[in-house]
Amino acid sequence: MTICANELFGSKRDKPAVRQVYGLSGQGKTVMLAEALRSACRSSKFGAKHRFVVFDVKHDGYESLAPPNPNVVTAIRQLNREKIAVIHPDIKTAKEELDDLIDFLFDASDYDPDFSATLVLEESSTFITAHKVPDQIKRMATQGRSKGLTLILVNQRALSNRWTDTQSSSITMFRLAIPDRKMLKERWGLIAEEIDPKLAKKKFSFAHFDLETLETSFYQPIKMPRNRTPIVKRRERYTSLFRNPFS
Ligand SMILES: Nc1ncnc2c1ncn2[C@@H]1O[C@H](COP(=O)(O)OP(=O)(O)OP(=O)(O)O)[C@@H](O)[C@H]1O
Ligand SMILES: [Mg+2]
Repeated sequence: MTICANELFGSKRDKPAVRQVYGLSGQGKTVMLAEALRSACRSSKFGAKHRFVVFDVKHDGYESLAPPNPNVVTAIRQLNREKIAVIHPDIKTAKEELDDLIDFLFDASDYDPDFSATLVLEESSTFITAHKVPDQIKRMATQGRSKGLTLILVNQRALSNRWTDTQSSSITMFRLAIPDRKMLKERWGLIAEEIDPKLAKKKFSFAHFDLETLETSFYQPIKMPRNRTPIVKRRERYTSLFRNPFS
């Protein structure tokens, strides 16, 4: 079975705005998301005005989709023309950049009701803790659905926060840290002792738990294409500058 990119990234407006992705380091979260994004960018299931944004404080793993932007301003400019933008923010200003980005997504959807977007927030524990959610993330979690805005929270550890939990429609799990198992059981009734041995059998495999139907599905590892064709090509702006005039 292959993961359904449109379901994960929210091609419809009838599901809660947040999806959560958990798994220990190196289990394949970024590879799965990058390949699912590549196919979502090419899918007709998303409207012509749907945009994907990856906000990645780790600066790791999405470069094969699009050349990374150092800040939100250049990313927004790029989204005029392109379906996807990858942002590698400076960690010192990442919180303000994220606030600006979420403002932009709301402004765009207010301006054009056909606009919709998916924001992939890597290592979201940088911004969200059990007792604190930045207002802008709270806004996206609670009001995003009606605006067509979907938020994917990606983390090594299972997040525990009621704002994001109550607005979540699914959890995609790779192998988890043992202390997280108890929490998943208390919150969602998920029995990690049953899920983990299945995931352990096949490296990079994962499970998808639908919080509305309460169904768990298991997925084989995503097949990494040999050529990871970018969605946004790097602009070769300086080639003429560096061309050897004597050749
Ligand atoms: N489906 C896959 N098929 C083949 N190799 C994979 C697959 N998934 C991951 N890998 C390999 O494992 C490495 C780590 O995967 P990835 O970066 O996706 O982990 P991660 O869960 O995002 O880790 P982190 O939490 O540290 O960001 C990749 O660079 C790749 O070499
Ligand atoms: Mg990763």
